[in-house]
Amino acid sequence: MTRAAITGTGFWVPERVVTNDDLAAIIDTSDEWITERSGIRERRWLERDADGRTLISGAEMGARAAREAIAAAGIDKDTIDQVIYATLNPDVFFPGNGVFIEHLLELNTAGAMDIRNQCTGFVYGLAAADGFIQSGLARTVLVIGGEIQSTALDLTDRGRDMAVLFADGAGAAILQATDEDRGILASVLHSQGRYARDLFAEAPVATVTGRMNAAMIEEGRHYPRMNGKMVFQHATRRFGEAIDEVLKKGGVTIDDVALLIPHQANQRITDAVTARLGLPVERVFSNIARYGNTTAASIPIALAEAVRAGRVQRGDLIVTVAFGSGFTWGANLIKW
Ligand code: UT7
Repeated sequence: MTRAAITGTGFWVPERVVTNDDLAAIIDTSDEWITERSGIRERRWLERDADGRTLISGAEMGARAAREAIAAAGIDKDTIDQVIYATLNPDVFFPGNGVFIEHLLELNTAGAMDIRNQCTGFVYGLAAADGFIQSGLARTVLVIGGEIQSTALDLTDRGRDMAVLFADGAGAAILQATDEDRGILASVLHSQGRYARDLFAEAPVATVTGRMNAAMIEEGRHYPRMNGKMVFQHATRRFGEAIDEVLKKGGVTIDDVALLIPHQANQRITDAVTARLGLPVERVFSNIARYGNTTAASIPIALAEAVRAGRVQRGDLIVTVAFGSGFTWGANLIKW
């Protein structure tokens, strides 16, 4: 049976470190509040020029992560036949970032698509890559999760609940067709659109002439908004459900799992899920203290760091799980 094996991972985060104290200097917040409520101590935001423009694009961040993943997989980049780019903040309204990767990596017209599933984007991306490979549509797929959040946050007191959580970065994985007993064993994907407006950015929008108007900007409707408590409650429940479901689908139990790589949404969510599953903390990956919530990038960054740290070994079972805007949620069970 053909499976989709992850054969290389990579990530890239900006060098600029923004601490909680740096944020407390511009908005009404504190290191104590942010650390207690989220576990975040610092995050990476892209450098900007005097006009507020980032020095590199989101696609360039993704390309840097991808180059590392390609080198780790030891493949010729020209064998990539499909790019899947997960992001909620593409560089331009359209097209998506996938095509910019095709150009930046000179992929010679490989297929390219974007997934707009926010924090769950990379989980959906792995599932899609698995489907492409199992169906024979592709043999080598590059999946990227990348976000620029720092330019899209409301850095006034009005936006402080969101501004302290989100950050920039990109992670990537190469998936290759294999007949070996490894790769993605199962995935589960869910959504519940009735809650779309509990975590969303309304603008720019196709249903308004000009996509945006002065009143929308005045009211900050182009900034992300979140019903934080509600998202927290749904996330905690859905993480657990998705993990149970993907384990059952793969015919294994939580005791078989070497490492859980949850979307880095909030350390309290990770802790609640860890406790509910009865997992020892060393079998759950966390880097939110250093990187904040990088939405679609958080799982591939965590995966690449875990591989780099030797925490994922050949034959290990790992689970990735995410919840985010949409609401969307899902999980992948992977044999390394
Ligand atoms: O990636 C998936 C999407 N996002 C998430 O998973 C995030 C899910 N939600 C959360 O992580 C939490 O709800 C937050 C970290 C956003 C907030 O934590 P909370 O314990 O739910 O706090 P809260 O929203 O109930 O706010 C408590 C207080 C409020 O003040 P009052 O009304 O009690 O006076 C907020 O105005 O904290 C205030 N507050 C802040 N204070 C200092 C909100 N943001 C801040 C801030 N600094 N940055």
